[in-house]
Amino acid sequence: MINWNFLASLVIFFSLTDGYLNLGDTEILNEVYYQPEQVHLSYGARPDQMVVTWVTMSPVPESVVEYGIYKIDSSVSGTSSIFVDGGNLRRNMTVHRVVLEKLTPGKSYKYHCGSPKYGWSDIFYFTAMPEGTKWSPRFAIFGDLGNENAQSLPRLQDETMLGFYDSILHVGDFAYDMATDNARVGDAFFNQMQPIAAYVPYMTCPGNHEWQYNFSNYVSKFSMPNGDGTKFGGDNNLFYSINIGPIHLISFSTEFYYFFDFGFKQIVNQYKWLEEDLKSANLPENRALRPWIITMGHRPMYCTNANKDDCTNFDDRVRTGLPYVQTYGLEDLFYKYAVDVELWAHEHSYERLWPIYNYTVYNGSYEKPYTNPKAPIHIVTGSAGCKENHNPFGPQKDFCAFRANDYGYTRMQAFNNTHLYFEQVSDDKNGKIIDNFWIIKDKHDSYF
Ligand SMILES: *[C@@H]1O[C@H](CO)[C@@H](O)[C@H](O)[C@H]1NC(C)=O
Ligand SMILES: *[C@@H]1O[C@H](CO)[C@@H](O)[C@H](O)[C@H]1NC(C)=O
Ligand SMILES: *[C@@H]1O[C@H](CO)[C@@H](O)[C@H](O)[C@H]1NC(C)=O
Ligand SMILES: *[C@@H]1O[C@H](CO)[C@@H](O)[C@H](O)[C@H]1NC(C)=O
Ligand SMILES: *[C@@H]1O[C@H](CO)[C@@H](O)[C@H](O)[C@H]1NC(C)=O
Ligand SMILES: [Fe+2]
Repeated sequence: MINWNFLASLVIFFSLTDGYLNLGDTEILNEVYYQPEQVHLSYGARPDQMVVTWVTMSPVPESVVEYGIYKIDSSVSGTSSIFVDGGNLRRNMTVHRVVLEKLTPGKSYKYHCGSPKYGWSDIFYFTAMPEGTKWSPRFAIFGDLGNENAQSLPRLQDETMLGFYDSILHVGDFAYDMATDNARVGDAFFNQMQPIAAYVPYMTCPGNHEWQYNFSNYVSKFSMPNGDGTKFGGDNNLFYSINIGPIHLISFSTEFYYFFDFGFKQIVNQYKWLEEDLKSANLPENRALRPWIITMGHRPMYCTNANKDDCTNFDDRVRTGLPYVQTYGLEDLFYKYAVDVELWAHEHSYERLWPIYNYTVYNGSYEKPYTNPKAPIHIVTGSAGCKENHNPFGPQKDFCAFRANDYGYTRMQAFNNTHLYFEQVSDDKNGKIIDNFWIIKDKHDSYF
C-alpha cells in the first residue's frame, strides 16, 4: 500500500529544499581549498595573446602563470574576481585570469598557473597562434555537452592530446547546468573539460542552459576577448569576434531573443555590434585576408526536429526578429554581409543544410562539394551528449542536405582562402565519419 501522507510530506520537503538535501552546508562553506582547478585557455584578441583562466575555491590573493618554451622561465601576474553564485548557498569562488602576451607565433609553451605561496596546477602546454592568415586552423565544434552522458568527451580528450585541434568551439549549453546544485555541476564540468581546455583555446557562446541568474555563471567563468585585447570575460563572453588564420569567427547570443526578463536592450546592442563587426570584416582589405566569415550562435534558424522549438517555426526569432514587430532578425544581416557558414546547436542532433535564405534553397552550381554557394550554409551540431539525450527528427524538408541522430561532433579545417572542409564524427559508430563536405569559393563577395 502507498502511504500518500508520507509521499506528500516528502514532496513538500523536497520543494522546500529545492530538491537538494543540504545537510552538510556549513562544513562545505568553511572548507579551505587553495588548489587551482578548472583551468582553461582562450584566444586573446591579438594573435600574440593567450588567456589562462582558473578557479580557486578559497580566495587566493595572487594570480600567476609561469611559462616558457624550453624552460618555465617567465612569469606574469593577472587579476581575479570573486564570483558569487545565485543559488541558495551563495557559494563563492575566485576566478583568476592571466593574459600572456608577446608570445612567439606557432611556438609551443609549457605553463602552470596558481601562486608561489598557495600552490601550482599541473604543468600543461599550448601552441601560440601562428603568424598571419596563411595557416589552416583545425577545430572541433559541438554544442549541448553535459556532465552526464557526455558521449563525445572521451574522444575529444584523446584527440586533443593527440594534437588534432587548434581550438574547440562550444556552441552553447554546458554542464546541464552550470548553475545546478549551487554551481557544483558547473565546477565539475570545467574539471571534466580541463584535459581539453587547458591545452587548446576553448571558445564559446551562451545557450539556454546558461540562463540562470542572468547568465552569471557563464559570464563569470569564461574569458572571451573584446576588440582590442584589453578586457577579457564578463559581458565580452556574450558576443565577440576573433580572427583565426583565414577565418573571421563571430560568436553571439541567441538567448537575448528568448529571455526578455533580462532586458531588451541587449538585443539592440548586440545587433548594432554585429553590423559594425560585419562591416569591418567586409572591408576589402579584411575580406581579402580573412575571406571566411563564420558565425556561432546557440539556437538555429532552421531545423527538421520533431519538437516545438522555435527553429521548427517559419518565424524563428533569431531568423526574422522579435515576435510581431519582426525587428533585429539576423538572417537578413548575415545574408547582406555574405556570411559563409552559420554554426548552431540546441537540437541534440546533426543537420547540414543546402545554401538557404528566407526558406529558399539556392542550390546554384551545386554538385558535391558546395561550389560558390549563393547563400549561407547552416550546420546544426548539438549532439555531443547530455542528460537530455537525443532530439528525434520530424519529416524531411527540402532544405536539409544531411541529418543524423548519432551522438558526435563536427571537425572543421580552413585549408586556405578557397577551401573549407567539414566532417561529422559519430560516437555511436566508434568515431566513424558519417558526413563530410567541402565548401569551395573563388570569391566571397555579395550573394546578390
Ligand atoms: C565567500 O564565502 C565565504 C565562506 O562562506 C564567506 O566568508 C565570504 O564572505 C564570501 N565572500 C563573498 C564576497 O561573498
Ligand atoms: C543582465 O546582464 C546584462 C549583461 O551582463 C546586463 O546588461 C543586464 O542589465 C542584466 N539584466 C538584469 C535584469 O540584471
Ligand atoms: C521572405 O519570404 C516571405 C514568405 O515567403 C515573404 O513574404 C518575404 O517578402 C520574403 N522576404 C524577403 C526579404 O525576400
Ligand atoms: C539541391 O541539390 C541536390 C543535389 O543535386 C539535390 O539532391 C536536392 O534535392 C536539391 N535541393 C533543392 C531544394 O533543389
Ligand atoms: C587550397 O587547399 C586545397 C585543399 O588542400 C588545395 O586543393 C588547393 O590547391 C589550395 N589552394 C591554394 C591556392 O593553395
Ligand atoms: Fe539549448
